Amino acid sequence: MNIKPWLTISLFSAVLLAGCDLSGNKSPEFRPVEMTPRLEAAKNKALVLCSGCHGPDGIGTADMNPNLACQKKVYMVKQLNDYRNGLRGNHIPMINIARMLTGEEVDAISEWYSLQRCPIDTF
Ligand code: HEC
Repeated sequence: MNIKPWLTISLFSAVLLAGCDLSGNKSPEFRPVEMTPRLEAAKNKALVLCSGCHGPDGIGTADMNPNLACQKKVYMVKQLNDYRNGLRGNHIPMINIARMLTGEEVDAISEWYSLQRCPIDTF
């Protein structure tokens, strides 16, 4: 019997498994957030305009206020622009708030929220 294919498969599996945590207990790792003046300004603006509903760290303060922490930036920019343009027209407070932001603020605030952690026990 030729054992070479089995040896190859075994080695390949060992390499694949080496990258996995089989205990299932490892908490997810997060990129450390490098705060730039732009992100600092975005954070401050969000604390003033958004945190009442979306929380200081992006975890919604009520069941109907969505979490923004670790949301995808591109998705958030689109939603905020849709509120601004009236394409997403179902929530008047969000429309008014989104219209208070400049394009650059939409970009920077979305980026800041996307970098925030979303702990599993908040879901
Ligand atoms: C008065 C409360 C309130 C404030 C203040 C507020 N939001 Fe919201 N926001 C909501 C609610 C409620 C929704 C869900 C509305 C809907 O169904 O469209 C929402 C939706 C959103 C969404 C879409 C989320 C998704 O999953 O599609 C984004 C992005 C967002 N808000 C960003 C912001 C930002 C950025 C600010 C500050 C500049 C802000 N919000 C301020 C209440 C608020």
